[in-house]
Amino acid sequence: MKKIGVLTSGGDAPGMNAAVRAVVRSAIYRGVEVYGIYHGYKGLITGNIKKLEVSDVGDIVQRGGTILYTARCEEFKTEEGRAIAIEQLKKFGIEGLVVIGGDGSFMGGVKLTQLGFPTIGIPGTIDNDIPGTDFTLGFDTALNTIIDAIDKIRDTATSHERRFIIEVMGRGCGDLALWAGLADGAESILIPEKKEDLDSIVERLNRGLERGKKHNIIIVAEGVGHADEIAKAVKARANMDTRVTVLGHVVRGGSPSAFDRVLAARMGNKAVELLLGGDKGKMIAIQNNKIVAHDILDLLTKKHEFNENLYQLAKVLSI
Ligand code: F6P
Repeated sequence: MKKIGVLTSGGDAPGMNAAVRAVVRSAIYRGVEVYGIYHGYKGLITGNIKKLEVSDVGDIVQRGGTILYTARCEEFKTEEGRAIAIEQLKKFGIEGLVVIGGDGSFMGGVKLTQLGFPTIGIPGTIDNDIPGTDFTLGFDTALNTIIDAIDKIRDTATSHERRFIIEVMGRGCGDLALWAGLADGAESILIPEKKEDLDSIVERLNRGLERGKKHNIIIVAEGVGHADEIAKAVKARANMDTRVTVLGHVVRGGSPSAFDRVLAARMGNKAVELLLGGDKGKMIAIQNNKIVAHDILDLLTKKHEFNENLYQLAKVLSI
């Protein structure tokens, strides 16, 4: 293989740029040309493709977002769209592709692989919702951004003796809320993987009030519902001056943490190694601090494993 492509797709995540840099430089180091495909799968169809040199990926390791841009592309979901994409790849002489994104993005990669075009995926999403990997690129940075925000909210919550209901992203996955809740000592953590009834939330809040606690932090994963509605329901049962903060897209931006940068370097390098070694249809993962690869089709039949131990620990520590 002498020419490969790289694209980012789905929601951007901190560490995507570091992964692009790792793919480009690991490939060039091995004598292979790399082409950046802009705007995700859309760029494959429109031919928005440019050769990347070592210096094109300089000064990006520390930057959030993605220099390759990202987009959701309906046309690529059709057979016609994919046929055009394959033509574009052939036109540029590209023989393999690295896709950095979430599980939706991998489905596109699988389709290309089935059409005879080798593709390798790197899990890049703040949600940490991909099976087979302990962490996705961007999760650690997003988590740290959330914690920084909650620490600040806690200052004002304490000063005004208020309750804060804080909603965080994560789509259908509660990992950002769970890890943030544990790291920040939240009273309650509401996540889609675990149904918690209002009674037990209120009971815990009231216990705190009896102990003289003057402020509360409740973290809600967006997959559970709107923080506003939860605030109303909780307030009706355990009255306290309450405010809602929806952290939203703030959590998706920012300079990647050291962990995400190192993970991006390891995953990017492994993706190139596999592609050049003739592998295809695989996703790079980190498990027990080892970089491994799984068959994407297998992964897509599985669900990201919920960490029951962390959830129980958070409950113990928020008695
Ligand atoms: O998948 C990343 C994510 O940020 C989710 O946490 C969130 O639900 C979604 O993307 C938001 O998507 P958009 O940026 O299209 O509003």
